[in-house]
Amino acid sequence: MQLITTIAAMRTARADVANLGFVPTMGYLHEGHLSLVRRAKAECGCVAVSIFVNPTQFRPNEDFGRYPRDLERDLALLAAEAVDFVFAPDAAAIYPEGFGTYVVLPAADEFLEGAARPNHFRGVATVVCKLFNIVQPTRAYFGQKDAQQSVVVRQMVRDLNVPTEVVVAPTVREADGLAMSSRNSYLSPAERAIAPTIYQALVAAQACYQAGERDAATLKATLSARLAAEPALQPEYISAADPLTLHELTTIGPQGALLSLAVRLGSVRLIDNLLLV
Ligand code: PAJ
Repeated sequence: MQLITTIAAMRTARADVANLGFVPTMGYLHEGHLSLVRRAKAECGCVAVSIFVNPTQFRPNEDFGRYPRDLERDLALLAAEAVDFVFAPDAAAIYPEGFGTYVVLPAADEFLEGAARPNHFRGVATVVCKLFNIVQPTRAYFGQKDAQQSVVVRQMVRDLNVPTEVVVAPTVREADGLAMSSRNSYLSPAERAIAPTIYQALVAAQACYQAGERDAATLKATLSARLAAEPALQPEYISAADPLTLHELTTIGPQGALLSLAVRLGSVRLIDNLLLV
């Protein structure tokens, strides 16, 4: 495994590889990240993983400064997966003096994570576009956990004719259903014990859907009622949206729905979703 910190070295390493899988991350890796790495390795043979806590996708009041970081541990996990290249640039390499071009998708800011976190997806789309230009992957792997991010990346790739295939893989969960996330490390033991209710609430709404309910408000109310069993879980939004456009639905049709939510638990903000198909 080769640890690479400069753009020039990444380009050189990449040059001889015909079929390159790529998994962009912000590090502090868990099984969710590693599931993407394994799939990339199996499908492409050669894999690059980036580790970069991207400052432009955090709001000034968000957790950029305290976002968990442990490069040594991440490198050991990636070496065990036989990853070929780890690209871990510093912020000055990605955003040098005078940097001024952003990839903006105004529609993404109108709903869900975009509405809650203005400019978040500008930062994500910009850094993913830059990473794609640096790494030039054949295929890039993203998690369904961040459903709107996957939609934004797919649109960026389509709109800008980026020659990379985007693959979206299922959410990996803890045994009790909590979606794995680097941010779970912020939870106190008491909060950690409450957090699986988020998934249970999604599953309750899914059961309602599977029993034939197609009214979005009813499904969201089912989710909300299950969540209310734990008053510490403060929902920021609960959504039933078209899985492709993410436009809010009133009735769920043959296209199914992305049921998603963001909740506050103490000082921690958690997101999760299920696809209703
Ligand atoms: P990060 O949160 O580190 O996530 C990296 C990738 O892992 C994303 O595609 C994310 O959706 C996926 N992932 C996270 N938790 C997962 C889980 N429980 N199961 C499956 N996949 C999971 O997302 C980012 O970083 C950044 O926004 C990035 C794309 C790297 C741009 O900075």
